[in-house]
Amino acid sequence: MIDYRNPYTPGAGAMPKYLAGRDDILEAASLQLKALAANYQSRSLVLYGLRGVGKTVLLNSIESVAEGEGILVRHIEVEEKKGLIAPLASACCSLSASLNRIELVKSKLEQIKNLFASLTLSVDAGDGSLSLGFNEEVLGASLASSHNLSGDFTDILVVLGKYAQAAGSSIFIGIDELQYASKEELEALACALHRATQLGLPVMFGCAGLPKLLKMLGEAKTYSERQFIFVKVDSLPRDKAVEAIVRPAQKLDVRYSDEAVDVIIDYTEGYPYFIQELCSTIWTSSDSKFISLETVLGCTSITDMRLDEGFFSVRYDRCTPRQKEFLIAMVRCGELPCTLANVAHYMGRDVSSIGPLRAQLISKGMIYSAARGEVDFTVPQFDRYLRRTERID
Ligand SMILES: Nc1ncnc2c1ncn2[C@@H]1O[C@H](COP(=O)(O)OP(=O)(O)O)[C@@H](O)[C@H]1O
Ligand SMILES: [Mg+2]
Repeated sequence: MIDYRNPYTPGAGAMPKYLAGRDDILEAASLQLKALAANYQSRSLVLYGLRGVGKTVLLNSIESVAEGEGILVRHIEVEEKKGLIAPLASACCSLSASLNRIELVKSKLEQIKNLFASLTLSVDAGDGSLSLGFNEEVLGASLASSHNLSGDFTDILVVLGKYAQAAGSSIFIGIDELQYASKEELEALACALHRATQLGLPVMFGCAGLPKLLKMLGEAKTYSERQFIFVKVDSLPRDKAVEAIVRPAQKLDVRYSDEAVDVIIDYTEGYPYFIQELCSTIWTSSDSKFISLETVLGCTSITDMRLDEGFFSVRYDRCTPRQKEFLIAMVRCGELPCTLANVAHYMGRDVSSIGPLRAQLISKGMIYSAARGEVDFTVPQFDRYLRRTERID
């Protein structure tokens, strides 16, 4: 090991020692947040991109900026099959508790505290639809539950937004992995935000998720395209990838040769997660403060193994044999993104018969539909992984 202080941070959501290449996004977000804090119009954000590009760390950084502006911040993560509304409702409750501590509007806030204490989430046993609402006795006639999720969540966000405004405060809610929300929940989110914006309430969302979020939000509400600023988070361009590699080590007097850096960039293609994983392995398996080409080359196969175990196989193992066949056929197509017709060809099946598999894999977050109805993997270099482990030539 070069030093007991390993400056690389492989792992979901692990804040890197040096956040490379995201200054522009952070600056743009910071302007929106300043506007929000000053009680001016701001637009909510959607960060979308493949796995491991750094959406979560970027969202966390934006939340820190928001806190620095004195904005009340909550962060939630949507879990697969668990839905958005329950964690969102509890974030709203906890925001109301924070507002309650603001002296200025104490008496008014007693009311909202009571309101939020009566918040209930129920699932209709018949059609499984969700509804969310304040207990009607506490609520009074003015805000009777609309018995649909969009109406209910709009009421809640409006009440919260008005109290935040009365308290001279503002609210930012970060929502990670938003692609796991249902259509009904996304509709509720878009509707509520739409209303809050119309009323000029100081509420902003920062959302993050896989590329399919774009389409999901577009389908949920046509106006959501104008409601959000969509920001693509991608692999790092060469100069920024160099910074992500070199800067964390520099602080500890460790240097890379130019050839070493070149190989790391070839191997990782500028994907932040791969950079962290490879550089971390280099750090632990080397002793010299000068990292040479040979050192890097000696670390790539261990990194392959680490990535296979920690990043790729955890996702692949969750697929059924049929779904795996589909993924393997995608690799056999030779070029990504690939058409459904081509996948069907390599599976030896009809296009129409593989439609359901495609839908399942999209819903699982394994693939997404790229331009012109083609599909691609949501995990970068997944094709390389399958070639290696399923021995596809
Ligand atoms: N801009 C960046 N510069 C350097 N490393 C980064 C950057 N963004 C993310 N990382 C690293 O990449 C990995 C994945 O980040 P994460 O935010 O979990 O990605 P995502 O949420 O897109 O899957 C983490 O190990 C993190 O430390
Ligand atoms: Mg993430």
